[in-house]
Order: sequence, then C-alpha cells, then structure tokens
Amino acid sequence: MQEIIAALDARRDEARLGGGQRRIDTQHGKGKLTARERLDVLLDPESFEEYDMFVTHRTTEFEMDKQVVPGDGVVTGWGKVNGRLVYVFSQDFTVFGGSLSETHAQKICKIMDLAVQNGAPVIGLNDSGGARIQEGVASLGGYAEVFWRNVQASGAVPQISVIMGPCAGGAVYSPAMTDFIYMVRDTSYMFVTGPDVVKTVTNEVVTAEELGGASTHTQKSSVADAAFDNDIEALLEVRRLVDFLPLSAIVRPPKRRVNDSTDRREMSLDSIIPDSASKAYDMGEIIRKVADEGEFLEIQRQHAANIITGFVRLDGETIGVVANQPMVLAGVLDIASSKKAARFVRFCDAFSIPILTFVDVPGFLPGTAQEYGGIIKHGAKLLFAYAEATVPKVTVITRKAYGGAYDVMSSKHIRADVNYAWPTAEIAVMGAKGAVEILYRGELGDKDKIAKRTEDYETRFANPFVAAERGFIDDVIQPHGTRRRVIRAFETLRNKRSTVPAKKHGNIPL
Ligand code: HXC
Repeated sequence: MQEIIAALDARRDEARLGGGQRRIDTQHGKGKLTARERLDVLLDPESFEEYDMFVTHRTTEFEMDKQVVPGDGVVTGWGKVNGRLVYVFSQDFTVFGGSLSETHAQKICKIMDLAVQNGAPVIGLNDSGGARIQEGVASLGGYAEVFWRNVQASGAVPQISVIMGPCAGGAVYSPAMTDFIYMVRDTSYMFVTGPDVVKTVTNEVVTAEELGGASTHTQKSSVADAAFDNDIEALLEVRRLVDFLPLSAIVRPPKRRVNDSTDRREMSLDSIIPDSASKAYDMGEIIRKVADEGEFLEIQRQHAANIITGFVRLDGETIGVVANQPMVLAGVLDIASSKKAARFVRFCDAFSIPILTFVDVPGFLPGTAQEYGGIIKHGAKLLFAYAEATVPKVTVITRKAYGGAYDVMSSKHIRADVNYAWPTAEIAVMGAKGAVEILYRGELGDKDKIAKRTEDYETRFANPFVAAERGFIDDVIQPHGTRRRVIRAFETLRNKRSTVPAKKHGNIPL
C-alpha cells in the first residue's frame, strides 16, 4: 500500500515539473512565474484542487509519442478567491510553449462547462504559442470548442483573461471573447500573427512590443482593459476585480462590509466646478469622493480617457460607474469613448450591477474623422446599451449635458430610474455661444448685442431648472450630499423589476 501511495506522489511530482527544470529556469529568467506559481498567487492558500493532472496528448506525428508530458501544458481546476469559488486554467509555457493540443483544449472545456453549470467565474491565465503545430487540424478543432464555450458562458458567468506571455493566433481569440483582459508589461503580447508574418505580408517592420504589447492594447487598440508591471501585481488585481463581481448572472453581486458612513458629506464637492464653463476639473475626484472608502477600480483607464468606466462600492454594494471626464477632450463623446462605455454598460447589465452615471458632456465630437469612422453607428452603441439596460440606473449631471449626448448619457427618457443634477448643471441643446451664433447670425457684427443675447441664453437655459420643471430631473441636489442621495436612490431600486418585449435578442449596432 505504501508503495502505491508513493508511486502516486512520484507521478504527481513528475506532472508538477511540467517541461522540466531547464525550461522553468528560462521562464523565471524572463521574469515570469510558472503556471503553478501563478495559481498560488491568484487563489486563496490551500484552496486549489487540480483536475486532469495525468491527461496526455495522443499524437504520434513528428515523434510526439516520445515527448509526452503529464498535464499536456495546462493546469486546470478550481479554487477560491477570498472564499468564493472560481474555475481556473493556467497554461504552462514550459510544455510545448503552452501550445494548445486537442487534449489541452478538452481540459479547458471541462472546467468551463463546470463553471457554467455551477455558476462561477472562469479565470484563464494565458501563456501560449497558439495551436500545437504538430497536431494540425485537431488543435484548430480544440480552439473552436473553447471559443464556442466562451460564447455560451458570456453573460452567464464572468470570464477573465490574464495574458502572461506571448499569445498568438488562436490564443488571442478566446481571451477576446471574455469580459476582461489584463496584461503584464514587457512579458506579454497578443497578436493574430507575429512580427515575422507581418513583415512578409505587409512589409512593415515592427517589434513584438509595438505590435501587440501591453501599451499597444491598453492605449491604442483597447483589446486589453489594464496592464501591470509583473505577474504578481496582475494576479492580485484579478483578485480585487473578482471581489466586485457576482459569481454568475443569477446571483447578486457580493455585498462587502465597509467602513464608511452612508451620510458622509463631501463639502469639497461644493467648490469643485470651476467658475468658467470652459475650465476642466477631475471627474475622477468626484467618483472617489462619493465611493465607499474612496476605492475605485478603473477599467480601460488608458484608453479613451474622455470617458471613465469602473467599479465602486456604495454602502458595500458593487456599482458600475460611467462618467465623462472634462479633463480629456472636454469629456466629449467620440467613437472610442462610446464603444468603451457601451461595452462596460452591457457587462454591468448582464451581471445585475447597478449603474451610476456622472454627466459633463459638451456633445458628440464633430469632424470628418469621426463621421468617416462611423460615429453614428458607434455612438449609437452607447445609446443602445443604456436604453437596453434594465439594472438600476442613477444619473447625476454635474455641469454640461448638451444635445444628443444629454439623451445618451443615461437620461430619464431612455429609462434611467433616478436623475439628479447639481445646481451647476446646464441642460440644453447646446452651449450659449453656439446657440447665439446660430439664432442671431445677423447680429454677429454687434458685440454688445451678442453679449446680451448670450447672457440671456445662459440665464434662461444654462441651468438645471428647465429640465427639472418638466420632471426630466427628479431633484437638484447639493454636491456635498451626492453620496447620501445616490446611496438612497439605489436603495429604493434594490428590487427593481422591468420587463422587455418578447424577442430572441436585440440587434445592437455592432
Ligand atoms: C508547438 C511550440 C509552439 C506551437 C512554441 N512551441 N510554439 N510547439 N506548437 N505553436 C515550442 C517551441 O518549439 C519550443 O520548444 C518552446 O515551445 C518554446 O518556444 P520558443 O520559440 O523557444 O520560445 P520564444 O522564443 O519565447 O517564442 C515564443 C513564441 C514562438 C513567440 C510563441 O515560439 C512562436 O512564434 N511560436 C509559434 C506561434 C504560432 O505561429 N502559432 C500558431 C498560430 S496559428 P522547445 O522544445 O525548444 O522548448 C493558430 C491557429 C488557430 O493558433 C486559429 C484559430 C482561430
């Protein structure tokens, strides 16, 4: 009996060694943790249970039968993040470069199926050279099985991808269909084809970092949601993200005990809006001052910074925040910001996370670049997403809410539940200067007359009361009391019910 038990230990030790000590040393030499070390950081101590440690590939081509590694390049199973269940897979670059074989794919599919069945997030740690070249089409089939499951799981359980090495080919499309992608700076890359293929096909000379590094994907392409300096930081940030999310679409997000009074007044908010309408201020400061304990987990911070998206807690409950940022492009809505916010709103709606919107928006960005790029269709994404969302929605207009952007930014008309404005709000078709220039074109030569017209317009329209008189705004609130008012508003919406007409699914302008 003892011998049999010892033999099991020996087999486990062999599997734990993956591609061998030499390759583990190479992995460490690049500043990367191994697949198992990463799970140790991600999961609560002693919580990981591994499945399929003894699974091996079955290929005989290319003398692969002589190179069989137990586990086949991916560590799979489940564990806990702060006591809550998650399913995980962690690709082992030391085994055939973490490439995906048929059996490697089957292991990932198994834990994805369990995650959907048991209602728990899937977290994938990706470090893979793509399809296992020796397996050919069997590997492509394996990828497609994973892709199909990504789509089935979408909106059912949260899916989080961490890119922790070179991810090429098929290895990028599964993460692309998950809810959040985190990357590690300098050691992770994502591209459909690498720099060599790019050079052959398009003649472009580009480094892997420029083509698909963390800064490319967090700033330019928006493929990734955030980037971190090393494996440990990235994995600890995933734990922080998981703490905000529900385990699945059919349970509520977690409620955290917080050390912050719901009545807390923030007197500094009474002076945050500058006297001049053209001066900027930091909307991020308002979000942090309203949030429990000042904590804000920002998503896509480096992309389309004219809109802010992320999670806060209010009275311990997870809330998704969308806010125009006057410090960047005056907070205008453009293609990039509309797409960024629309995707975030849809995630919140899918997972019953209420949405708090702060509005200071001068309108949509004019110009040929935007029109040729399809601002009509992309701006409509945000409008569609807000209108479609049935989660509790509370809106606070801090300053400008002009034109179509007023409608889009979670207005009452597209079924926000509670709409507040600060006394500094200006809800109008456009700013005073633009309006006067159109209405009184004939008087433009007369400066005094125009100044008087502008003043009149400001007095009549640049305030929240015209909208409040119509009930489009439920109340004009003191900035310092914002935290208390929005917490109370969300409290009333806790058991909100709303129905949608029978349909298969809507047709968001993609
Ligand atoms: C089998 C692979 C592999 C692969 C790497 N290896 N990629 N084995 N299939 N796809 C092996 C290497 O042979 C090597 O084995 C070990 O992994 C480490 O690889 P290195 O090249 O030494 O590492 P590095 O220099 O860090 O380069 C990593 C890399 C490079 C950038 C990922 O290996 C690479 O370009 N691989 C090929 C990428 C690719 O074209 N994949 C197919 C994409 S097509 P030893 O034994 O020496 O340690 C695809 C189709 C699916 O995915 C599409 C679905 C939509």
